[in-house]
Amino acid sequence: MKSISSSNPKDKLIFALDAAGYEEALSWINLLSGHVGMFKVGKELFTSVGPKIIETIKQRESKVFLDLKFHDIPNTVARAAEAAVALNVDMFNVHAAGGSRMMRETVDAVAACAGKRGIKMPVVLAVTVLTSLNNSDLQEIGFEKTTDELVTHLAKLAHLAGMTGVVASPRDIAAIRSACGKDFVIVTPGIRSADEPVKDDQRRTLSAFEAIQSGADYIVVGRPIRNAPGPLTACSRIVDEIACGLASREGT
Ligand code: C5P
Repeated sequence: MKSISSSNPKDKLIFALDAAGYEEALSWINLLSGHVGMFKVGKELFTSVGPKIIETIKQRESKVFLDLKFHDIPNTVARAAEAAVALNVDMFNVHAAGGSRMMRETVDAVAACAGKRGIKMPVVLAVTVLTSLNNSDLQEIGFEKTTDELVTHLAKLAHLAGMTGVVASPRDIAAIRSACGKDFVIVTPGIRSADEPVKDDQRRTLSAFEAIQSGADYIVVGRPIRNAPGPLTACSRIVDEIACGLASREGT
């Protein structure tokens, strides 16, 4: 099920709305609505501003990815997921490490709640292993698998639990695609231009073209647009790269 997938390249671009407050977020929403497919609202912005930011994005007929990475007992996550459906978000995520039962109860609750409201079911994504964790961090918290093994293991668990897809680093796309099939949605952050050296904290990066060509369904981009001298120009360059990536994928 790829409930909101589209072949329009712009729709595959998710802008990371990593703003500290409402006014800053609003200026990005006003500038980029109609130029990106979705706005990603994370913990910082949602905690400081609340549901008002979702309403603002929706009023401009744009889509919302609520990136709050729920991780709790099944009942709590399922109820939080219903609250996300009530906000009419288009995509949200939970930690796969919450387990199969948590993911299954969440998917069931979301389907029932969306059905009752007569709205489209949002894309429900699993976060596998945070990219900030390496093999020794995993050992420290008691996991025996390597990060690569655990990413694939948790992606399979999410797939079996009925989740729509996963958030995955660029380097994990191929393994997840082969383990979970072509209909499993893969959303990929860590996008940087192939022509410029990486100057920030993202390490295992791919260009928008490479990520889409490798099989990502959506890419999340923040600073390459936010810090560009011309954000709209940067945005349309990325959309062009997505179009080339899609064309190259279809040609193979
Ligand atoms: O600015 P940048 O393009 O790096 O933004 C990427 C966005 O994706 C940020 O909101 C970041 O928190 C998020 N993200 C990430 N890597 C992950 C998961 C999420 O960069 N593994």
